Amino acid sequence: MKNLEYKNKKLQFSKTDIASVAKNNKTPFYLYSEEILVKNYQDFYQGAVNANLINPLVCFALKSNPNKELVKILAKMGSGADIVSGGELKRAMECGIPAEKIVFSGVGKTEEEILYALKVSKGKLCSFNIESLEELELINSCAKRTKTVARICFRLNPVVKPKTHKYISTGNKTHKFGLLEKDVLSFLKEKKYWSHSKLVGLSIHIGSQLLDLKATKKAIAKMCDIALKTQAPLEFIDVGGGLGVDYHPSETKRMPSIEEYMTLVYKTLHKEFYSKSDLRPRVVFEPGRRIIAKAGILVMRVLRNKISEDNHFVIVDGGMNDFMRPSLYGAYHGVTPVQEAKATTRVHVVGPICETSDCFGSDRPLPALKSGDLVILEDTGAYGYSMGSNYNLRGRPLELLIQKNQKLKTVNKAQDYKELL
Ligand code: LLP
Repeated sequence: MKNLEYKNKKLQFSKTDIASVAKNNKTPFYLYSEEILVKNYQDFYQGAVNANLINPLVCFALKSNPNKELVKILAKMGSGADIVSGGELKRAMECGIPAEKIVFSGVGKTEEEILYALKVSKGKLCSFNIESLEELELINSCAKRTKTVARICFRLNPVVKPKTHKYISTGNKTHKFGLLEKDVLSFLKEKKYWSHSKLVGLSIHIGSQLLDLKATKKAIAKMCDIALKTQAPLEFIDVGGGLGVDYHPSETKRMPSIEEYMTLVYKTLHKEFYSKSDLRPRVVFEPGRRIIAKAGILVMRVLRNKISEDNHFVIVDGGMNDFMRPSLYGAYHGVTPVQEAKATTRVHVVGPICETSDCFGSDRPLPALKSGDLVILEDTGAYGYSMGSNYNLRGRPLELLIQKNQKLKTVNKAQDYKELL
């Protein structure tokens, strides 16, 4: 069965009837599937194992979806975490992810966050993925103060141009991310910054929603080259996240399979590193979207129709504060009616927020929808709830999980006025 499928004209998500869920739960709400999440993680991890990658560690990027119950499910399967704040670190550890499996990314770690990370992990954090000399200096001094040794990974800027939206492209010179080759090599020589720090890995993350892997291959090759030049006994090579999904049907053919991706990683590492070195560092991955995007949908109700000459607006109760991607990146997400019917008109599906960009889809062919009808926004498990806000003083929506036994579980309550105000 597909993740989304009509049965007796009623849309099912992960074998669950969406309309029945909406009967007892206030829209808009996120609906996640444990089954899909588990499968996505297992496919990813197993793909790495099948490609002969050495002792792979999959560090789920919490920023894509830090929901407690979802992170717990991943932790139980052995997932690690890619985190970018003290909050994400606390969440990951509370959900059962051991410090040894956590990589701390981000250009702006604060002193407070660094000290917290060193303390709670007792210096065992898999690594601080660092992006500047000042950061190394600060981490080293924090480690000294806490009488620990910080495990350091250099995040490289491999100077590549992946094909993706410019806002989520991160591997080129003009981007704030990563270190240039010459800087990596010179920072290593700064003895004073290594008194309480140890280089354990190299990493890259060149962008997100990547469907074309040419730049990824180039970036991994560059990382291997630098790894050899450092002559450091690296424990791991971190190839970052970024693997995309097919949001639009036209992307399905272009979307790399896990097998293709893992084979590319393996072949590149083999050619550019293993064949030239006796070291066998483990491979770390930081996927977010590929694990969680398809494991979630946003369920919304139609409030009303508005027809302005040629423009037919269907106004729904979910807004850009609930799901940002279309308004922020012009991202495409399928809008699908919960009751199956033939498309008869082209409409703009818009939310209630006072911004013109609060639009989930323009000129979408849809059946006639009336007040109270349900629609879903597809593939919203990643960068959905996590990028939401209280804009327009709207409460954050409910999050529900379809568990493996098909039972529904509330994994985050909707914010009511009391909490909101
Ligand atoms: N590692 C690092 C260091 C990252 O910055 C990110 C994402 C990831 C891993 C996970 O990337 P993924 O596998 O999910 O592509 N809000 C945007 C995406 C921003 C991604 C930021 N960094 C969106 O909705 O498309």
